[in-house]
Amino acid sequence: MNASLLTVRGLTRRFGGLTAVDNVDLDVRKGEIHGLIGPNGSGKTTCINLLSGVLKSDAGSVTLEGTEIARRPTHVVAAAGLARTFQNIRVFGRMTVLQNVLVGFNQSLGYNLLSVFSLRNGAAERRLHEQGMALLEFVGLADKHDTLATNLSYGEQRLIEIARARALSPRLLLLDEPLVGMNPTEVDRVVDLFQRMRGQGLTMLLVEHKMRVVMSVCDQITVLNFGRKIAGGQPDEIRADPEVIRAYLGENHGIRKKRTAGS
Ligand SMILES: Nc1ncnc2c1ncn2[C@@H]1O[C@H](COP(=O)(O)OP(=O)(O)OP(=O)(O)O)[C@@H](O)[C@H]1O
Ligand SMILES: [Mg+2]
Repeated sequence: MNASLLTVRGLTRRFGGLTAVDNVDLDVRKGEIHGLIGPNGSGKTTCINLLSGVLKSDAGSVTLEGTEIARRPTHVVAAAGLARTFQNIRVFGRMTVLQNVLVGFNQSLGYNLLSVFSLRNGAAERRLHEQGMALLEFVGLADKHDTLATNLSYGEQRLIEIARARALSPRLLLLDEPLVGMNPTEVDRVVDLFQRMRGQGLTMLLVEHKMRVVMSVCDQITVLNFGRKIAGGQPDEIRADPEVIRAYLGENHGIRKKRTAGS
């Protein structure tokens, strides 16, 4: 069994009187795709925000390969090897697809955003360009590298986010509903992409409502309900867990009943 890459103990976050994440433990092992599932409002995105440093926890510890990252700023967390995508897409519409990915490299190198626009023909820039194109190749967007991001389909914009997150060379990638808005063909492509990323040794925490995908790609699954962890285990165990069925699976057939705001 692989060693734990991410270890979370007692993670807690309140919003006024609401405990959105309530004493959650989580172990994500190296090289696995770990699913984080649960009904709307159960605290999944809040967890991702806490892990990535976007929100500060009220209590709990988070270690990434032994380094404590709880309550640290986002750039410290990113430098420790954690990258994420957002539930609500965040791409720069007026930038090209390639420029969007290069922003990821720039973040990891600490450059400022403007240098993306002023790529000259130096060797370093050429190498960045090649690395960006390789990432686009990997997600299947190389032929659209020069297109403005705003002109891509919703599903393709989600692929830009994944490519950009990978430009940070993370050890752990957090994916918050990466399949929302994708058609079945796009979903299949992204499932294949996840499997290839895992094949390269990338560890992923996947928040997703599409149960067909979660059950087929995840090695381990953690289930939240009202901010609390109600189950953890392999897909077969989760699928058969009476409490999970009652709280979530019984009425979830992979189709979202409503959209909620959140980031
Ligand atoms: N910034 C905030 N201020 C106040 N309440 C918040 C905030 N962010 C989230 N919440 C509340 O915390 C709870 C958990 O929300 P969260 O977005 O983490 O759920 P989720 O599991 O990601 O849901 P979904 O599947 O709909 O994306 C919800 O009740 C939500 O309304
Ligand atoms: Mg969410």
